[in-house]
This record gives sequence, structure tokens and C-alpha cells, in this order.
Amino acid sequence: MIKIRIPATSANIGSGFDSLGLALNLYNYIYMEQIDGIEIKSKDHTVIPTGENNLVYKAAKHLFEICGKPFTGLHIEQENNIPMTRGLGSSSACIVGGLFGANELMGNPLSQDELVNFAAVMEGHPDNSTPAILGGLVTAVIDEGKVYCVKQEITEKLRFFAFIPDFEMSTEMARAALPQTIAHKDGVFNLSRAALMSVSLYSGKFQNLRIAAQDRLHQPYRLGLIKDGDKVFQLAYDLGAYAAYISGAGSTLMAIVDEKMAESFETEARKGLDHLGHQSWEIKKMMIDNLGTQILANI
Ligand code: HSE
Repeated sequence: MIKIRIPATSANIGSGFDSLGLALNLYNYIYMEQIDGIEIKSKDHTVIPTGENNLVYKAAKHLFEICGKPFTGLHIEQENNIPMTRGLGSSSACIVGGLFGANELMGNPLSQDELVNFAAVMEGHPDNSTPAILGGLVTAVIDEGKVYCVKQEITEKLRFFAFIPDFEMSTEMARAALPQTIAHKDGVFNLSRAALMSVSLYSGKFQNLRIAAQDRLHQPYRLGLIKDGDKVFQLAYDLGAYAAYISGAGSTLMAIVDEKMAESFETEARKGLDHLGHQSWEIKKMMIDNLGTQILANI
């Protein structure tokens, strides 16, 4: 049996729509072995598909087929700690886990670069799947099915506070809210900030992050879909966050905070959310995962 650990991810980081993402130390675990037939179980209370439509199964089977290897079926057990459909990379984790598990079961015929490409094509955008595989902060472009990317390890001194609403937001819905075209000046607005985000996070110039997270491509259209999203951004900035942004396609809102302020930020953010009437929203404190997907055991 193989055990795989896949990190949560936070894509876009404001301005880097479909191109920037980072991995966080919140993990899903997948156990996998080849059997005759399908057996899929949840190791916790999370309800998951247990048939051919299970995303881990689909990704794994797909890779067996691509590699032309005989596929008899799989036993899969999933421990899901990444909240589903909240913009924290739960689908990516399933796809990446399925691909890595299948590759390991086949004796590793594919390189990490090839897995990065397959994962991005299956996921649709490279900004969740690539950091899930590589860890760290990833800048990625997909061109004709190939991912061109750079991974940068970033400091463990930053804390990422996820404000996780009690409602799901599908990527399809969040993408449907976007306009077909944007003004040239808005393109410039974003590309300059996305470049600034990447180098500022990497180099430690965190005072740039607030400006770097500004965005005109997706957040203005999505924030209104998240009740009190603007107030939560304001709360995060009032409490001293370096930056606040919608994580991936939402519904989670993310705040980047210095570790020295993390304790007071957490206490006051909880009070602030409660004051807004969002007692049911979770606040999760995380930090960067610089390792990416790991095969923990082959037993
Ligand atoms: N970049 C994607 C989006 C992330 O914002 O729609 C979700 O996969």
C-alpha cells in the first residue's frame, strides 16, 4: 500500500490570476493499492464519491491508460483535511494524489515534470496543481499542454490565515462571474503586480504585498459573491495583515501575516468574524509547505 501526502494550495494570490500559487501545510492523505475492482473509502467523516467518478481514481486510471499499463482496479482510502470547494486546492490534491499514486504503482515511469503537465491539463489551470506537486511559491504558465514554471522556497516566518466560509463556491461559478474582455490598462495593472508579488514574497519585501495583491481581473467580480468579503478584507488589514486576497476561486479569503503578530491576529480576527455574525466560519492558521507532494510509505 502506498501513502501519499498532498498539500493544500492557495492560487492567484490576488494579482496572479491563473499563474501564481503556493502550497500550505494542511494535507490530504491518500492510501492506494492495485486490486481487482474498485474499493474507495473515506478515513474520516468526509463524504466522497466511491465509484468511477472519484477524482483520485479517475486521475490514477487515466495515467495507467496513458502509460499503456494493464489496469485492474484500485483500493483507495482518503483522509481529507483540505476543505472541499473552498479555494484551497481540494480538487488538485485529488488529481495530484491519483497521478502520484499511479506513477508509484507503475514503478515511476513518468518524471515530475511530466506529472506537473498531466496534473495541470486535468485541473485546467496550473496555479493549484503545480504548487501542490512542487511546494513553495510557484509561478506557472501552461502553453499547449506543457507547464513552464519556477518554484521558489519562501520563508516559514509568514502565517497564512484562511477565513473559510460555511458555503462552497465552485470554480465554474466563480469563473462564470468574470468578464470576457478587460481594458489594456487593467492588464498592465495586474501583470506589474503579479510580478511584484512573486519577487516580493521570495525576497522578503513584505511591505510590497498589499499593493502586489491588488487585482482587476477576478476579485472585483468575485468578492460580491462572498458575503461580507470586503469587510473581512478590511478586518484583516485593520489587524495588520501584509495582504488579503481571495484564495483561488474562493470562497476562502486569505490573509498573509507576520509570525510575530499571529497570536493577536488570530484572537482578534475570531472576534471580528463573530461580530460580523460569521460564527460558523472557520479560521485556519497555516504556513508555507516548501516540500510539495510526498510519497510517505510503500508498504
Ligand atoms: N486560478 C483559478 C481561478 C483557481 O481563480 O479560477 C481555481 O483553480
